Amino acid sequence: MDRAAIQAIKERLDIVDIVRRYVELKPVSGRWMGLCPFHNEKTPSMSVNSEEGFFYCFGCQASGDIFDFYANINGLEFKDALEQLAAEAGVELTPGKVDPGAAKRSSERKIFMEMHELAAKYFARMLKLPEGRTARKYLERRGLASSVIDSFGLGCSTDDWQGLEKFLISKGYTADQGVKAGLLSQNTKGRTYDRFRGRLIFPIKNLSGRVIAFGGRVITDGEPKYLNSSDTPIYKKGDHLYGLSTARNSIARTKHALLTEGYMDVISLHQFGYTNSCGVLGTALTPDQVKRLSGFCSKVDLVFDGDSAGVKAALRSSEMILTQGVSCGVIVLPDGEDVDSILQARGAEGFQVFMDQARDGLDFALATLQQGFSPRELMDWAQGFLKKMSSASLRAFYLPKVASGLGMAEAELRSVFSSALSSPVQPQKQPVRKAVPQSAGPVGAQVKDDKYFLRYAVKHPEYVAELSERGIAQVLTSHWGKKLWSLITAHSGQDIMSFLDDSEKRFYASCRMEEALSGSELEDEWRHVCRVIARRRYDTGRKKLTDALRRAQAEGDMGRVSAYLKVLNDSVWRDDEQH
Ligand code: UTP
Ligand code: MN
Repeated sequence: MDRAAIQAIKERLDIVDIVRRYVELKPVSGRWMGLCPFHNEKTPSMSVNSEEGFFYCFGCQASGDIFDFYANINGLEFKDALEQLAAEAGVELTPGKVDPGAAKRSSERKIFMEMHELAAKYFARMLKLPEGRTARKYLERRGLASSVIDSFGLGCSTDDWQGLEKFLISKGYTADQGVKAGLLSQNTKGRTYDRFRGRLIFPIKNLSGRVIAFGGRVITDGEPKYLNSSDTPIYKKGDHLYGLSTARNSIARTKHALLTEGYMDVISLHQFGYTNSCGVLGTALTPDQVKRLSGFCSKVDLVFDGDSAGVKAALRSSEMILTQGVSCGVIVLPDGEDVDSILQARGAEGFQVFMDQARDGLDFALATLQQGFSPRELMDWAQGFLKKMSSASLRAFYLPKVASGLGMAEAELRSVFSSALSSPVQPQKQPVRKAVPQSAGPVGAQVKDDKYFLRYAVKHPEYVAELSERGIAQVLTSHWGKKLWSLITAHSGQDIMSFLDDSEKRFYASCRMEEALSGSELEDEWRHVCRVIARRRYDTGRKKLTDALRRAQAEGDMGRVSAYLKVLNDSVWRDDEQH
């Protein structure tokens, strides 16, 4: 990681300015507060600390520095957030001593993106040329406006087997690169040819609006109906949502997204004014996709076909959205219709009738399940659903709702799932949360103990050196606590946030957001911290002695036994001596 650049960016950009682009911030008793964009809330609980460069949400514990905020809200990788903010701050990123493989991969990705950009232009031009007549007629017949044809960059490919290939080669690329980029195919004899032939072309873009893949629909007849790019170094199925880069501003503004299933459906929605729409494209909705969306919206409405496949997809998708802590509504259209056909036949007004009948996601899921499921299966579903919750607090939130939806007493459901509930949350980036009761296991308890000391250190950095002298390192028992302490001593006073993982950040930010103690309160607390450290060290010392004593006894070494006994008798805890 380019530490110097990270530091420089943080010095030049104020996190408050960045957050403000997405969230309205108001000064509240010396800090900036706003509605947290990472969970659904009506009263502001996100606080932004300008001087120290981090944010923290008291509601959902989302926290981090300027890069975390920017990456999460835009659904970006850290690396991309770094690049974009560096460009904005005018900070040059030094490539550093990266491994040669990474440099090669990154230049390859760059080349593939360029090739996609060129291919998109090629396909779009085809649509305007005489060769694109059939495709143009088809789009016309489907009622697509030229505005969306342009904004979605639609194009077409001809039946030519080497059209794009020749074009790419004329631009200086090799056929081999074309194959690796997923634009060309190769037969067993090694002969290369265009992957998309005789199709209407839908460019698939990443969040920054760059083309990274294509979908191609047959214009006349043929199989498959839609041919999509396969996975390449720049595109992974299930990572992206169709139309999201176009919809993102509208989604961020309204905090609300429409999610549907098809290319045509997304485009029609935009054409008819539903500019906050995007699509899942033939795969099941993934947690990554939901995360990307939840970065800038708090509610997702699913609009799915009324056939059994559509209902199934709506069920799976609503489950996925709810377990990620995002609100969800479900609109199931009449069987035999889809979004596009309704919009084209009845316009936005006709479609809005269905939108107004949106059902609550959880109600929909429970009602749908109750139709076809046995009680046993229902219980299994409920257990799985609650286990999949991305956090314990979310699970606590949904348990009573699921119980009442199934017509059960909450306590009953709780007891059925008691074993499931005490098992750890799924490996989402989920930190230990202070407001949530921890399982009583030793690890949780140790972390909790360690947090007592660490909280003091984080709130009062001027005491770090002295805490260190007093041997706090020997007193910390959890791996978590030891690691955080070593980071605190190594980076105290500097930009420590950049060195912390998610759960450490959360803890650090929450401590810094607490009011620091002062005066006699601070002194009292300090005395208490010192006493607890001393007591811990004393107890640990005694434990070592008694262990040694026991070993000596077992070995029958009476000399050592009496020596240890003497030391043990002499070492009496004297509270007053410790400070
Ligand atoms: P649909 O068959 O419902 O098509 O597939 P559609 O989107 O309504 O298209 P039109 O209106 O008939 O032109 C829904 C989505 O499933 C994916 C595509 O993303 C499609 O938009 N799909 C479908 C494929 O990926 N491959 C296929 O062969 C079919
Ligand atoms: Mn359709």
